[in-house]
Amino acid sequence: MANATDHLWMHFTRMASYSAGEVPTIVRGEGAYVWDAQGRRYLDGLAGLFVVNAGHGRTELAEAAAKQAGELAYFPLWSYAHPTAVELAERISSLTPGDLNRVFFTTGGSEAVEAAWKLARAYFKRVGKPTKHKVVSRYIAYHGTSMGALSITGLPGIKTDFEPLVPGGIKVPNTNFYRAPEHGDDPVAFGRWAADEIARAIEREGPDTVAAVFLEPVQNSGGCFPPPPGYFERVREICDAYDVLLVSDEVICSWGRLGEYFGAVRYGYQPDIITTAKGITSGYAPLGAMIASDRLMEPFLTETGMFAHGVTFGGHPVSCAVALANLEVFAREDLVGHVRANEGAFRSTLEKLHDLPIVGDVRGDGYFYGIELVKDKTTRETFDEAESERLLRGFLSTALFDAGLYCRADDRGDPVVQLAPPLIAGQQQFDEIEQILRTVLTEAWSRL
Ligand SMILES: Cc1ncc(COP(=O)(O)O)c(C=O)c1O
Repeated sequence: MANATDHLWMHFTRMASYSAGEVPTIVRGEGAYVWDAQGRRYLDGLAGLFVVNAGHGRTELAEAAAKQAGELAYFPLWSYAHPTAVELAERISSLTPGDLNRVFFTTGGSEAVEAAWKLARAYFKRVGKPTKHKVVSRYIAYHGTSMGALSITGLPGIKTDFEPLVPGGIKVPNTNFYRAPEHGDDPVAFGRWAADEIARAIEREGPDTVAAVFLEPVQNSGGCFPPPPGYFERVREICDAYDVLLVSDEVICSWGRLGEYFGAVRYGYQPDIITTAKGITSGYAPLGAMIASDRLMEPFLTETGMFAHGVTFGGHPVSCAVALANLEVFAREDLVGHVRANEGAFRSTLEKLHDLPIVGDVRGDGYFYGIELVKDKTTRETFDEAESERLLRGFLSTALFDAGLYCRADDRGDPVVQLAPPLIAGQQQFDEIEQILRTVLTEAWSRL
């Protein structure tokens, strides 16, 4: 087999870093584990990329794909339907909160986010508010890489190469309570402040120019920022007051990741749109969706009305069949209930790591955690650029992997280790994660 670097251009990868060494090549998965080409086993601490929620090696999902491909491999959803898309759309709308009953399929998360922004703009044009087009989102949040989604993304490091982006992406503070610039001792006041920052941004921009607010239930990038108490309640009030759509970007946070089918349900808020992807098929086929409220579809139901948007593979029959089979697994094994029953154990196992001097914060919910690393626990001082380079990129990712744990050492915000195992994981996997992290983080500290 040719070397992985000869022709394969990997995503978000410093290709040169592999010029001297082998690219880790994963060939097989079973349950919460994957194996590389040399036969070494790794605990999949990130469910691939927050994707493989039902776990690896589910032959029934592979069989569902094969059966559908044999029956009808492809037909577009452009003026025609196929049964798996119809059934899946119905199943999804039975699980969503409130009147989120209109399912627009895509092939992934960026396309779902892109579709949501386009729908927000097109909707306001149809209801007589054509100047509403901007989008509010949070610093360091990741919402995808297509030009619209990238504009919504709050990570300068992955944007500057591609500027100018789509205009109208407005940024507000995120809910990183560990580094709260205000109200650091009071989560309720902090949540109120962070939500009110959205109102202030809308005021500053002009309410008649703002179409939507895009928020993840738990912000992934930066290392799992859960919403402070009252945050989403206040955001909903603000969105209602200014007639701005609330988009819950649940590309990661749906399908059991937070112990509910949707993150909005976990935190008790009603979005106007949910964007999702990843775990909807547990990764056995690519699929995403933008799920809109009945109200948002209404202006498109006139005789000549249409949402002039689509992608060839959106709602691919094979992906829809796989998603249906995946949701069967979810129901039969009560994976969502399993997360709820075990999330406390996951949290308390990870919290044991607090005794390490390098561990500043352990935060998250469900099966979705970030561990922030610090240079000084008392002052919360973080690492400078050179230390981050040495510690995270130079040592941690590889050392964790070599020790048998695939997860992510991320420094798009402050340095964090991110964990999101398949939802079938239990105490044995939590202990394995804790032990590997303990060994490797202790070694990292001694190298500082
Ligand atoms: C919250 C969120 N939105 C959007 C995306 C983009 O999804 P995709 O990579 O499927 O395009 C991601 C990907 O990680 C995400 O986490």
